[in-house]
Formats: sequence, structure tokens, C-alpha cells
Amino acid sequence: MTNIKSKLPLVGDTIFSEMSQLAQQLNAINLGQGFPDFQPDNELLNAVCQAVQQGSNQYAPMTGVPALRQAIHDKVIAHQGRSYDINAEITVTSGATEALTSSILALVQSGDSVVLIDPSYDLYAPVVTLAGGHPVHVPMNPPTAGNPRFSLNWDAIADAINQQTRLLVLNFPHNPTGLTLREEDLDALEQIAARHPFLILSDEAYEHIVFDERPHVSPVSRPVLAARCVLISSFAKTLHATGWKIGYCCAPVEISREIRKIHQYSVYSVNTPFQAGIAAYLKQSQTVQTLSAFYQKKRDRLMHGLASTKLRPLTSEGTFFLLADTQALGQTSEKELAIRLTREAGVATIPVSAFYPEPSSPLANHHLLRLCFAKQDTTLDAAIERLAGL
Ligand SMILES: Cc1ncc(COP(=O)(O)O)c(C=O)c1O
Repeated sequence: MTNIKSKLPLVGDTIFSEMSQLAQQLNAINLGQGFPDFQPDNELLNAVCQAVQQGSNQYAPMTGVPALRQAIHDKVIAHQGRSYDINAEITVTSGATEALTSSILALVQSGDSVVLIDPSYDLYAPVVTLAGGHPVHVPMNPPTAGNPRFSLNWDAIADAINQQTRLLVLNFPHNPTGLTLREEDLDALEQIAARHPFLILSDEAYEHIVFDERPHVSPVSRPVLAARCVLISSFAKTLHATGWKIGYCCAPVEISREIRKIHQYSVYSVNTPFQAGIAAYLKQSQTVQTLSAFYQKKRDRLMHGLASTKLRPLTSEGTFFLLADTQALGQTSEKELAIRLTREAGVATIPVSAFYPEPSSPLANHHLLRLCFAKQDTTLDAAIERLAGL
């Protein structure tokens, strides 16, 4: 007889696996889970193959291959305007996932509270619980007829932060809403930071996908915020390679030191040839600089295509997701509607309610589905045609 006591009794299979499985079963087009259905750049594939053939096949340094840490350093200076020490402050991780988990486990103590902004990425709350912390959920303002976009409620965020708050988790460009940060948001954050000593986890996995000439605004662009911030990102979305699981975190030395202690004993070091290949590729590729324009075309294609369906798209400012309003289809549970669309139209999507702590509650259901447009144009066109037939 085993006597196993679950540390995460409420965690089951994620909605992403559930919808992907259903899509596979029903041969539906999968606009649910966020991954491209096209290959990364050939030059990148060649760079990784070359790294394997040229002998980058043994353990990498615990903190990451030096050439990749240098490339991350250069990219962060250019994009976020902040310089991190490549030896002490930049760590290569197994995807943004491991960077997030190692950071939360390193920084959150038993009894600490961690403020999450809902809808929020599904990893944050369970890992906070695992660390012994308490997730404090603050909802964004949902879209209304007069203002058809999610927006941040800084008064509610300020009210939720107190002396027990260890961490505030931010994720911009935001999955699933596509919202980006503005300078006014950083002003509000600086005001709250002046009153309380919490740390900030800034998950910027979609940092290079912002639309309509918007800048990518990061908390680390402000010195007072950077001093208490862990910047986390990944090459998964940036290089169309979600399966490679190469991410990183940048943080001031005393924070990085603690994160590395967890990284050292959970992962030790990340696979070498992919790090070496990415480092070589970043030196000569324009993929990063052209990514926003590449995805903006796909966003527009999907948005315009949806005009021929009963779904009404909300504007997406960044990421490779957009939300669609489904009120015309007359179903109150987003999850039931997502299942219905997969069965009846053959298109899988993700209910936004899955990004709330109680997905079946009316507070989590705003008639919205998340559609991923990191797909070939032919896939997007086929999905639109199917949805139009509903
Ligand atoms: C907001 C957010 N953070 C982190 C991740 C995980 O990134 P990675 O695949 O690099 O672990 C994802 C992936 O979907 C994401 O959407």
C-alpha cells in the first residue's frame, strides 16, 4: 500500500492538453495550444546541427553556455535597456517554465503572499502553493461594450499588496489577453513599490511580439523596479521552437544567487548544442527584429477572417493570441463552448476561464475564447472557413 499525500491535490491535466487531445481525436484544427505549426528558420536548424557535430555535446556550465549568456546580455540591453552581468546575473534555464519555477521556489517562503493578475498563466498559482506561499488573485477589468479590451486595475493591485507580499507576477505581452504594458503602468507600479518591499517576476516570454508600432515596455527599464525584478524570457516563441525549452532569467546578483541554487539541483545545466546553436544564430539572424511584423500579418489575417463568422475578435496588442467574443453563439460556459466548437466546427480553442482560479464561476466566464495564430496561413484560412460554417 502506498501512502502518497499530494502536494498539489487540486492539479489535474491542463486545459491545453485536454483541448489538444480532443482536437487530435476529432481531427480538428488546433488553434488552442500555443505553438507554431511551421518550422524554425533553416539557418537555426543548421546552427544546432553544427553544434552537435562540432562537439558541443557534454555538460554546459551550470549557468549556461557563455556565448548564449553574452547574446542574452546584448539582446536585453537593446530591447529592455538594462545591462546584466553575464557571470553573476544571467542564467540559462530549461524554458521560461523552469526560470519561473526556480524563481518562485527560491524567493517565496512559507506564508508569503504572491499577487497574480487574472487571467493568469496556469503555472504561477500551483508553484506558489508548492513553495508554501498564498496566491492572491487580482482580476483585470474585463472587456465591456464601451471598452472592448481587458485593462489593468492598479487600485485593486495596490490594495492587494502589503507587508506580507513577497512577489508580484507580471506577464506582458500578456497571455491570454494580448495586452501590453504602457509607461503609465510603470508609473503606477513605481508608486506601489515605494510603499512596500515586494519583488517582481516579469514573465516576458512574448517580448518580441508587439503590434501596431507599440514598444515593448518592461519593468526592468526603470532602475528602481529593475533592482527588485527577475526578468524571465524564452527562445520558444521568439525562434518558433517551443520544443527546445531554452529560456533564461536575469536578476540582480543577490537574487540570481538564490535562483541558481534551485536551478543547480533541479536541472543543473541546460542541453548544450541548442544553447550553442542559438548563440551562433543570434549573431547573424534578423528573426528577432522582424518577428512582430511577421505575426502582425497573421493577427490581421485571422481578425479579418473572423468577420465572416459569428466570433468577434478583440484587438491583440501582442503575443500570438487573440480573444474572440462568442456572445452570438449563446453559450455561457466558455469551456462548453470550446468543446462544442471543436466538435461542431472542427476548430479547437482555449476558454479564457481556464486562466482563472475557478474556471466555472461566472466571474471567470466572459464569452471569450483564445485563438492562437502562430499557424501557417493555410491553417488559419481553413479554420476561418470552418468557423464561418457554424
Ligand atoms: C506566459 C508564458 N510564460 C511562460 C511560458 C513557458 O515558456 P517555455 O516554453 O519557454 O517554458 C509560456 C508558454 O506558453 C507562456 O505563455
